[in-house]
Amino acid sequence: MARILLVDDEPSILSVLSTLLKAEGYTVSPINNPVKAAELLASDSFDLMITDIRMSPINGMDLLKMAQEQKPTMSVLIMTGFGSVDTAVEALKIGAFDYVTKPFKVDELLITVQRALEYHRTMEENVDLKSQLGAKYKFENIVAESEPMRRVCEMIERVAPTDTTVLITGESGTGKELVAKAIHAYSRRKDKKFLAVNCAALPETLLESEMFGYVKGAFTGASANKEGLFEAANGGTLLLDEIGAMPLSLQAKFLRVLQEKEVRRVGGTENVMVDVRVLAATNVPLEDLISKTQFREDLYYRLSVINIAIKPIRERIEDILPLVHHVLQRECGDSKPIPIITAEARQILEQYTWPGNVRELENAIKHALTFCLDGKITRDLLPSRIVSAYPQGGASNTSTTPNLTQFRGKSLKAFLRDKEKEYLKYVLSESSGDKEKAAKELKISLATLYRKLPEPQ
Ligand SMILES: Nc1ncnc2c1ncn2[C@@H]1O[C@H](COP(=O)(O)OP(=O)(O)OP(=O)(O)O)[C@@H](O)[C@H]1O
Ligand SMILES: [Mg+2]
Repeated sequence: MARILLVDDEPSILSVLSTLLKAEGYTVSPINNPVKAAELLASDSFDLMITDIRMSPINGMDLLKMAQEQKPTMSVLIMTGFGSVDTAVEALKIGAFDYVTKPFKVDELLITVQRALEYHRTMEENVDLKSQLGAKYKFENIVAESEPMRRVCEMIERVAPTDTTVLITGESGTGKELVAKAIHAYSRRKDKKFLAVNCAALPETLLESEMFGYVKGAFTGASANKEGLFEAANGGTLLLDEIGAMPLSLQAKFLRVLQEKEVRRVGGTENVMVDVRVLAATNVPLEDLISKTQFREDLYYRLSVINIAIKPIRERIEDILPLVHHVLQRECGDSKPIPIITAEARQILEQYTWPGNVRELENAIKHALTFCLDGKITRDLLPSRIVSAYPQGGASNTSTTPNLTQFRGKSLKAFLRDKEKEYLKYVLSESSGDKEKAAKELKISLATLYRKLPEPQ
């Protein structure tokens, strides 16, 4: 029931109003001392405050301002005596929901109270929605249900506004480039370019001229001046992908660029100032390369001022199904209905080790979608290497002993009841929660199904 804080220094009005509102079923806290009301406002929670304006030492406007600060979703109704309508209008401007003038008509007052409470509910819902959206869709293209992935998102938020170099590590396909793009998108550089170079894809000389550019005649084939990626990304962000593959000689030049913030084109004599934020990504631990003297330690320290480490998806299983839904939504768009995933297919997806991480998962789902005709993604539609990694008939059948040990000490009846529950849950989820369909399949009546249904968890 709605809770109302009622404030008026006139005891007679307080008592009449309080009785009236209580009769309507509201929980009312009548207070005739505005200072006490202010204390209550801070310590307690109310859905609505109805307050007189003229009081001392704190007046209704003061209470309204306090409410706005401390309880922004609470509605406030102002009561004014004859002649203080101006103040009431002022109160509306500050954020009071409405005002009523004394002496008020009971019906009108009650309707205004109802509306004020409705308004409060809408405000609360909006706040809920906002905080849900805030938590979930802050980076709308990054699925982050698991704790480790949420931490990654927090890191992105924290480092994005700075110019710090960030080293992003993670196995292949974990989303390193996605994270780099998010850092750029949430930085002051977002309207400038985001460029990426894959250090493993080019031989040394090409990589150097790609990064730093060259002047005409620097080498055979250099028929004109060309700017490198550092210059092209000026004002923006440059991702050095697979940084571990950068040859040692180039690492030295690159370190200088990071320190001096200047580049010199291959064959050139002048240095050009560049303002580029550098991000680096690797799926090979750089520490290993350092110990093999394949990576410069000083460059490593320079790059890894901040390290964002993305865990493989087998270590954040909570992300797997949300990622599947993310891919399905993206692939189906608004035009195609999104298929459901059978319980068995879900288990297979959650138990697979995903060496190729999110990229492999994306491909598996796209594969399944291509062959999906009846709105259901079943085991048979998943790529065979994923299915064959899963024990035939489900994990529970490969070795019966470990699963049965949990029933030790239970009666046969209890065991059967548990197994029945399990099977009911399975058939229900296969029927997408359609109880009639499930009952039909189980050849029991709907009433029996309801009776046997496991308690909601
Ligand atoms: N948390 C996530 N939410 C949504 N999509 C993701 C997520 N992580 C990765 N992806 C998607 O997975 C694919 C692979 O991601 P990305 O290319 O960023 O990985 P990578 O770590 O750079 O891979 P590689 O090591 O192969 O270069 C992309 O399509 C990306 O959008
Ligand atoms: Mg990548």
